[in-house]
Amino acid sequence: MSNPFSLKGKSIMVTGASSGIGRSIAIECSHMGADIIMVARNQSRLEETLSMMGEGNHVMILTHLEIEEELDNLVENITSLDGVVHCAGIAPHHPFKFVSRSKFEETFAVNFFAPALLSQKLVKKKKMSKPSSIVFISSISGNCIAASASTAYCSSKAAIGGLVKSMAVDLASQGIRVNSISPGAIRTAIFDSGQFSEEDIKAEEQRYLLKRLGKPEDIAYAAIYLLSDASSWTTGSNIVVDGGYTVL
Ligand SMILES: NC(=O)c1ccc[n+]([C@@H]2O[C@H](COP(=O)([O-])OP(=O)(O)OC[C@H]3O[C@@H](n4cnc5c(N)ncnc54)[C@H](OP(=O)(O)O)[C@@H]3O)[C@@H](O)[C@H]2O)c1
Repeated sequence: MSNPFSLKGKSIMVTGASSGIGRSIAIECSHMGADIIMVARNQSRLEETLSMMGEGNHVMILTHLEIEEELDNLVENITSLDGVVHCAGIAPHHPFKFVSRSKFEETFAVNFFAPALLSQKLVKKKKMSKPSSIVFISSISGNCIAASASTAYCSSKAAIGGLVKSMAVDLASQGIRVNSISPGAIRTAIFDSGQFSEEDIKAEEQRYLLKRLGKPEDIAYAAIYLLSDASSWTTGSNIVVDGGYTVL
């Protein structure tokens, strides 16, 4: 019996594949049969991701996503894609009173301009297959809730909401679907870096209906759905994966 969630034979680019959620997306998509193009700056951490992946024709392309010429080189190195997951992102903390224009620009460069322009370049150079799927990893922050000292981050993620819907409208006729996932707090390296005590983490977990933080795989499984043929009638949508946090 065929599996509509299978990614067998699909070529999928994952940015931010060297860490956290992007790493998990690359690994889980490889287990579903995809060939993965992993994008990030840190070669040794990308190699670690590769060592955890299933079989396939996987490649790494080192790229500083905030540099436009590097986006052009990345696109030149691609033959054709069935899917893209824009997962690379930064989350700096700047209280609103101190967030300068350059700090806004630094955050938008990685979180908004890089995925927007990379998508545009892939489409213009006809690197997206018909049909194909583009997935943005956004956040509940900016779209559903806000956090303190996060104006630049929340604004960049809210901007992704508008981008996804308008790209979905413009690209539907070319068979390209565009969607986003908005995660709640996911237990990635930042939670084990000593910045938060175990007590802080336990208190945070109690704020979730399902009484735990997310795991990177929780987001990877939603990405698999959006990349696969199972979601062939889904475009312009945002899937909130937050353990029920924003229901309360
Ligand atoms: N973790 C959460 O709780 C959470 C919640 C909601 C949304 N999100 C979103 O999920 C995404 C991934 O978050 P994460 O927690 O997995 O973060 P992470 O572990 O810090 O990983 C960030 C990834 O982005 C890459 N990256 C950052 N700046 C880059 C640049 N200039 N050029 C190329 N690659 C760059 C990093 O790779 P290199 O350092 O190797 O370049 C790394 O692979 C982000 O968009 C984030 O906003 C996370």
